[in-house]
Amino acid sequence: MLNIALPKGRLGEKVYAMFEAAGYECPSIKENNRKLIFENEEKQVRYFWVKPSDVAIYVERGAADIGVAGKDILLEYTPDVYELLDLNLGKCRMAVAAPNEFHDDGQKTLKVATKFTNIAANYYASLGREIDIIKLNGSIEIAPILRLSDVIVDIVETGTTLKENNLEVKSTIVPISARLISNKSSFKFKGEDIEKIVESIKNQVNNND
Ligand code: PRP
Repeated sequence: MLNIALPKGRLGEKVYAMFEAAGYECPSIKENNRKLIFENEEKQVRYFWVKPSDVAIYVERGAADIGVAGKDILLEYTPDVYELLDLNLGKCRMAVAAPNEFHDDGQKTLKVATKFTNIAANYYASLGREIDIIKLNGSIEIAPILRLSDVIVDIVETGTTLKENNLEVKSTIVPISARLISNKSSFKFKGEDIEKIVESIKNQVNNND
């Protein structure tokens, strides 16, 4: 049985549809209830819904053999897993944003509010820019408006949240999308099954363009 961690939510539903189209369906998953674990004995797959940011933890520790996590999470927490495939879903970017009128003159320590402290720290270290990181857990866009920070490092998808708060992207750090990841020892011991799934899913990826 292959254990598969799916990110709960809209992205997870699209991801499951890819597994289904690849021949690993599990009809009970579509029943409208609060169950979190579903299996199809015949196909030898067991799916479970977890919080998107937790998928990599399940996979790293082997509670799931494979799973789907955002590149943002992989860059931020660097879990010890294999990244097998870019699913070309959940596409967005990690960006620096600030009020439209803000211009970094490089004179004083830059105050950066973010959920992604490692990504932000690595980015500014690569620029040799000194920063003061303010770790927040959500509604990051408010920080520069209330002068808690000068800029934010956050995910931008459509750009609507920034626009509605009079912020704009100042620079893009990295493009983000959903990735199929595998536990390292599962890949060794269930490698054949995992490869089979990867191959069938690969055929779906191009449809996501
Ligand atoms: C993300 C991100 C932005 C928003 C960007 O938040 O933090 O707030 O989406 O999307 P947009 O460019 O399409 O407006 P999310 O909804 O994931 O929730 P969060 O506040 O918990 O991070």
